[in-house]
Amino acid sequence: MPKARTQYVCRECGAVSPKWSGQCPDCGAWNSLEEAVAEKADARGRGRGNWSGVAGGRVSTLADIDPEASQPRFGSGLSEMDRVLGGGLVAGSVILIGGDPGIGKSTLLLQVQNALAERVESLYVTGEESPAQVALRARRLELDPGRISCMTETRLEVILATAAERKPKFIVIDSIQTLWTEALQSAPGAVAQVRECAARLVQFAKQTGCTVVLVGHVTKQGALAGPRVLEHMVDAVLYFESDSGSRYRMIRAVKNRFGAANELGVFAMTDKGLKAVGNPSAIFLSGHQSPAPGSCVLVTREGTRPMMVEVQALVASSSLSNPRRIASGIDGNRLAILLAVMQRHAGIALADQDVFVSVAGGVRVSETASDLAVVLALQSSLREKPLPRDLVAFGEIGLAGELRPVYNGEERLREAAGQGFARALVPEDNLKGVKVRMQLHGCRRLDQALGLVREMTD
Ligand code: TYD
Ligand code: MG
Repeated sequence: MPKARTQYVCRECGAVSPKWSGQCPDCGAWNSLEEAVAEKADARGRGRGNWSGVAGGRVSTLADIDPEASQPRFGSGLSEMDRVLGGGLVAGSVILIGGDPGIGKSTLLLQVQNALAERVESLYVTGEESPAQVALRARRLELDPGRISCMTETRLEVILATAAERKPKFIVIDSIQTLWTEALQSAPGAVAQVRECAARLVQFAKQTGCTVVLVGHVTKQGALAGPRVLEHMVDAVLYFESDSGSRYRMIRAVKNRFGAANELGVFAMTDKGLKAVGNPSAIFLSGHQSPAPGSCVLVTREGTRPMMVEVQALVASSSLSNPRRIASGIDGNRLAILLAVMQRHAGIALADQDVFVSVAGGVRVSETASDLAVVLALQSSLREKPLPRDLVAFGEIGLAGELRPVYNGEERLREAAGQGFARALVPEDNLKGVKVRMQLHGCRRLDQALGLVREMTD
């Protein structure tokens, strides 16, 4: 096979040069040239704009296409994994899984492979561990070692050739950063290598209908290492999330071409690997023996499932000239906004107080429906008065101090009622036509809601 020609492409402007240099000769950007495989020159030397002799492509309306026929789904064998993927693995799709080291990526994929073994031929390619390490893990997980085909390899060409021979329906690449192709000179893990290897694997998946799972490393900041384009190339991007020290692991679908984005799957890490948690609401409520000040329960909706979580706040007088604002599990900027709204529209000034807010169980709540619960938890901590144990609250707070409705209000209230909560404090617009067996309090403004809670707790 002739060696592929390489060239250098500027990341900023796309200019192509045959040699690497520190500065792009075209746009002048520094350190922006990356190695790439040169596309083969057209044999007939067809220039741009010359279409003579090219046959037109086929166009059909979407009604003629049967989406199920081309993309059959198959269950992964783990219920929470299927949920995140939007109902199972899709043949021919490529899934990227990222997460901190040691969070359980390899463990999860080994378990999926084991669960799949009876139904489909699969292959586990590892570039990070020795076969002995993988075998040891399989034994620890009490999987049937005879059912899992494993291969230690980092050369892309060898992996593709093996896959072409064995024709598996499911391949795990652990990890994409360890792969390298002979077409490029850069070291494994370099942006160009990662991109080229991923592109070839995507092409392989689409051509053969094999499902490919790529494990990706994350950087210190928590983003997937390597080029952002990786996320564009694949069909689904899943992130492992967890609080340090917590045994719960959440998998979030950041992108999914075959299901809802932001869908959340919950697992617990046990000594026998990851176990799906079917009813996450029950575990994320901390279950204090006696009600504690500074804690408020809310119903969040991650993906397609409502889930109850507990927001905790601590307000303590500060000796610093710049009091601390620390948020874990919610966005720090959102907390700053809420503190400003509290001061301006409810007369609660926390300028001389340290403020800490966290969500119990290591859950990350990214929706603004948590606003009301955060503010109620802050007020409760400030007044040292616990909220009623049977109260849930959710709602978005606007900059003018108004409470805005959140979507799927009724479904959230039902979940709360199902978990035994008897009272709810929500934006008034969320109560239209809602029938739930709970005592419902609707409010239009933040100060009204805070006043109502003060009455309840006095
Ligand atoms: P691993 O799956 O190797 O993580 P990654 O591939 O994301 O780096 O990490 C597994 C971690 O989980 C490791 O710290 C040990 C722990 N573990 C368990 O608690 N129980 C188990 O059954 C297994 C296999 C691992
Ligand atoms: Mg691993």
